[in-house]
Order: sequence, then structure tokens, then C-alpha cells
Amino acid sequence: MLRLQRPLPEGYTTATADELARRIAAAKEALGPRLMILGHHYQRDEVMRWADARGDSFGLSRKAAATREAEFVVFCGVHFMAESADILTSPAQTVILPDLNAGCSMADMADLDGVEEAWEAIASVTDITSVVPITYINSSAALKAFVGRHGGAVCTSSNARKVITWALGQGRRDAEAGAPAGAGGTKLLFFPDQHLGRNTAFQLGFSAEDMAVWDPSLEQGGLDERTIKEARFLLWKGHCSVHQRFRPEHIAAFRGDHPDGRVIVHPECSHEVVELADEVGSTDYIIAAVERAPEGSVVAVGTEIHLVQRLAAEHPSLRVQSLDPLVCPCSTMFRIDAPHLCWVLEELVAGRVVNRITVDEETAAGARVALRRMLDIA
Ligand code: 13P
Ligand code: SF4
Repeated sequence: MLRLQRPLPEGYTTATADELARRIAAAKEALGPRLMILGHHYQRDEVMRWADARGDSFGLSRKAAATREAEFVVFCGVHFMAESADILTSPAQTVILPDLNAGCSMADMADLDGVEEAWEAIASVTDITSVVPITYINSSAALKAFVGRHGGAVCTSSNARKVITWALGQGRRDAEAGAPAGAGGTKLLFFPDQHLGRNTAFQLGFSAEDMAVWDPSLEQGGLDERTIKEARFLLWKGHCSVHQRFRPEHIAAFRGDHPDGRVIVHPECSHEVVELADEVGSTDYIIAAVERAPEGSVVAVGTEIHLVQRLAAEHPSLRVQSLDPLVCPCSTMFRIDAPHLCWVLEELVAGRVVNRITVDEETAAGARVALRRMLDIA
């Protein structure tokens, strides 16, 4: 989705790193408790050093929901995270994204029209009251609202297992039968990341035959009626361009060089990669797993490079490296830099709000239901 960020005034683009740091510190000082800066683990160090709280998507949504005192929440992350923060904060609070072009290509792989079309197509061949929609938090507020209106919930990479287990007990037949979760045949429409959906379904003991990929570019998702009826998981054909780069060959090469090394990956990686890894989990999980690694270990991490580099710097007694030696950063997370952070803060000091993220109240109401369900389940 194109969101146009206007170019920064020259005073920001020409400033040195030291000058920007001084100005950010001064603006933070001036704003005091009126300001809260949230930073996702993929942010660059020049930004992350200013965060009042760091976290994965789930931790940051919880933080946003619990933050009542700060008038301004500056979200150093991507657009869907700032939208979720706007939905979960109070109307008196203002959420700001330092660069409006910081989106998420995976979130853009599902839109409301496509999901509504899929829902109708599924309803035309199977009992829709037994289908529960689940959206990964990497999605627009409009999709979260759709899920809220249709009895589903949001999930993140750290709670997908709990949310999916909950969802499997929500279809009408399961709910009425009081049967164990999913025993009545509840089906999930999971979007937009097929990999998180697939990896979690496997973790819960389902098999490949229980899953089908819904391709939104094809008629009826590219599936025949029987497949739609029988699949327990309809997985939207979306993916993360950063995590899809990690391949089984990288793990084989790493294990060849370091037979005792550990491989830790994010669940947005493909199932073949997850199957070969030693551990899988959200960015918070990855941080904790590296902290647990015995001194001297060699650890290959399959996630965004800024987090991997930070882990390497913070753990000199380990050898932490990227699973893919040629990995590229998440280009949208990378858009948030010190000049943009400095600009939004200095504008606030001057009494001007720039780059405010707002979700209209009707959409926010539906999305809040889906986000609150997640917060209650997880
Ligand atoms: P986490 O919730 O694990 O931080 O993941 C967010 C994300 O966008 C990963 O690509
Ligand atoms: Fe989106 Fe992937 Fe970037 Fe995460 S790493 S924000 S899923 S593009």
C-alpha cells in the first residue's frame, strides 16, 4: 500500500549522527512523561537506543494497551503495529509513525476485498458457521475488524498456538457439542502468512493433508470444493520476503561447519526450515533462546539482520550469526532512522503532530474486539 512520506527538511538529512543524537535527547527531555517511544526488535540501533520499551509485536501491543499516561506514543516499527497501538490506546493518546512508508509487504498480501471474496466463496461450499477467521497481527486494521466481526481473533508469532487452539473450539459445531477443540470439524481461514499458519498447525499435531493454500489470485482460491470442505486450515498464500530467504541448504551448510551449533528461527520461515531448526519462536523468544545458549556456543539465527547483529554485539561470549550469510534487512523497518525520529519529536516539541496514525472508529471497534480477544487468550 502506498503511503507517501514527504521528504524531510534539509536540517535533518544533513545533520551528523552526533547532532541528531543530541537533538533527540533534548526533545525527549522536553517532552518528558508526555512521550513514550516503542521500538520493535528489528529497528536499527540508532533508533532503538531511544526506545522506552522494546518488544515483539505481542509485547508492544500489550505495552500500548497498558500505556495510559503518555500523550504521544511514537512507534518505531511498521504501519500495522502503529495501527494496533492506535486501536489499543485511549482516544486522548496520539500514535505517530516516524516514516509513513514503513509498511509490511506481507501485510499488503491480503486486503479486505480479497478476504471478503474468499469468505463468500468458502460459504458457498461449506458451513460457514464452522469457519473461524484468524489474522496474523501483520495485517491492516480493516482485516482485524473483519475478524472481530466474524468471531475470530488476531494472533502474533508468540501466541499463534494458543490463539489457534482457542479458535478450534469456536466453530458452531464445536461450541455446541462442548467437544474438545476442533473435534466438531472447525475450520480456520488463516491470513496473511501461510508459514506461521502451517508451522503452528504442524506443532499442534495436524498433518499436511489437513491444510490447503488459498491463492487469492485464483478462482475459489485455486481449490476444488472437496478440498475446501475437508481442509481444517485454509492458509492464505502470503509470506514474508525476509524470512522466505532462509533455506534448508543454509542449515545444512551451518551444521557442516558447526556440528554442535544451534539454529534458532522465526516461524515466518518455511516449514522445511522450521523442521530442521533446533528452536522456533518470535523475536522475543529468539532473544531469550540466545540468552540461554551456553557460553562459547555458535548460534545461527533465522530472522531480520538488525536483531541478529544486536544479539551478536550483546553476547560476545557466543558466536551469533545470520543463518543466511547474504541476508537482506527488512526494507520497511529500515525506513525508520534517526533523522525521521528526530523530526517527529522536534515537531511535537514545537506543538505540531506529524505522521499521526489513526484508524476510523468503526474499523477500530471491530479490530479492537479481535485484538482484545488475543490479549485475553494469550
Ligand atoms: P515478532 O512478533 O516475532 O516480533 O515478529 C514481527 C514480524 O514482523 C516478524 O517479521
Ligand atoms: Fe513484514 Fe517481514 Fe518486515 Fe516482518 S520482516 S515487518 S513480516 S516484511
